[in-house]
Amino acid sequence: MKKLHIVSNRLPFSIVSEEDKFLLKPSVGGLATGMKSVYKDFEGRWIGWPGVATESYTADQFKEIQEMLSAEGCETVPLSSSEVHTFYEGFCNRTIWPLFHYFNQYVDYSTEFWQSYVEVNQKFADRTLEVVEEGDFVWVHDYQLMLVPGMIKAKRPDITIGFFLHIPFPSYEIFRMLPWRNELLEGLLGADLIGFHTYDYERHFLSSVRRLFGYEISFNQIHIGERIVLADAFPMGIDYDKFSNSAIKTISKPLQEKSPLHQELEKYFLVSPDRKLILSIDRLDYSKGIPHRLRAFEYFLEKYPEYGTKVTLVMLAVPSRNSVPEYQKLKREVDELVGRINGMYGSVNYSPVWYFYRSMPFENLVELYSMSDVALLTPVRDGMNLVAKEYVASRTNQTGVMIISEMTGVVKEMGEALVINPNHEGEVADAIKQALEMPVDEQRSRMSVMQKRLKRYDVFKWAEQFVSSLKRINQIQSEFL
Ligand code: UDP
Ligand code: G6P
Repeated sequence: MKKLHIVSNRLPFSIVSEEDKFLLKPSVGGLATGMKSVYKDFEGRWIGWPGVATESYTADQFKEIQEMLSAEGCETVPLSSSEVHTFYEGFCNRTIWPLFHYFNQYVDYSTEFWQSYVEVNQKFADRTLEVVEEGDFVWVHDYQLMLVPGMIKAKRPDITIGFFLHIPFPSYEIFRMLPWRNELLEGLLGADLIGFHTYDYERHFLSSVRRLFGYEISFNQIHIGERIVLADAFPMGIDYDKFSNSAIKTISKPLQEKSPLHQELEKYFLVSPDRKLILSIDRLDYSKGIPHRLRAFEYFLEKYPEYGTKVTLVMLAVPSRNSVPEYQKLKREVDELVGRINGMYGSVNYSPVWYFYRSMPFENLVELYSMSDVALLTPVRDGMNLVAKEYVASRTNQTGVMIISEMTGVVKEMGEALVINPNHEGEVADAIKQALEMPVDEQRSRMSVMQKRLKRYDVFKWAEQFVSSLKRINQIQSEFL
């Protein structure tokens, strides 16, 4: 039977050591949380890095880690600490991530990083080649592995390869700055189908292919000699029912069964019924516009003092890529801003910002979503932003207001949200006021439209559409020949 294998840098589980044993912890980030819901249906293996450097463990310990992951359907690609430094922290997160998110000033064009990217991509390709059997499909994910499709195709042209990019593909004027732009495109074009979250990213990609290689492109088909490569937009969805069912359960639990977090949140509302909670959840990443959000919230408190003591921003920032200097700098900036706002506007009984710097289990995320009146998501650039979709799915009584940045992929599916430019503090502050004062009927009518849309095109539909396009590709190619 033909199988479909997934290849991504991050596996759905990361290893944590607790006392003298290892535990599998769900990985954070849209790729891992989204694909985790669907991969068991594919009957293939998930090939990826276990999230730890090989030197941190003895050979026996590493074998144990590999076995634990294997039981979950995963094959591991081990990376040394030097590869973690030059490949993962280096080319992935100090070159491509900032460049593709338009943070040109953060990009490090190190040749050492690039060489490591080529070597590690080859490792992933080689591991995949050991796993695939004749006629299988391979689905490669994200910016860490853009050379893998070309490397697999070079050795096994019979394998049908899909690639999905979870981050933006930037405009040609940005992409052209990369010294290895041709090599990256060649790597991607080893795939038969290349998917993006939005039509804009697809257009940027096609424009780079046209300008750099001059290939003939008709609609979304790229003609490369005898081959056809397809590019298409597939906006990733979420496991809608998992969030909405869990939210229903959360709300109806008796007090004694509620989590400590849930009880704390309820206490906040006991002080006064007109108190409101605003929520944000993201990895602590400079692309998420966290300082922008805090400054806008501070400006809101200054401009609308009547809301002082009545509104709290609950901000969950998940630690991410701690060894990269720009992330460390961001952490200091966020700590400082939170301290300044709480120092200025807080009192013994009131903190304007509740700041959690950690990850939370799924149940707590749903509690936060279902208890918050407003979601305030202000990325300065974001491929999609699944958190926005999760908030909408968890609002089972259909109240709640979404404030979302126009620089996200998700905004294309959120026409009923309040759309803001995260760089405009005044606009964000006014949107917060509008959200807090929005009549319940209006909240419900906006929310219900978004819910219908997200329920219809959930992560299962997304994966099904991508995979069925991939399966149709051989037919399109044979029609062309
Ligand atoms: N998330 C999580 N644990 C947390 C906080 C967030 O698993 O403590 C998940 C969240 O539910 C969402 C994902 O991380 O599915 C973040 O995806 P998003 O697309 O918003 O951003 P990304 O991190 O991929 O840039
Ligand atoms: C984003 C990327 C993913 C990545 C995730 C978490 O969602 O698109 O590829 O896995 O962030 O980042 P990390 O560096 O921890 O894998």
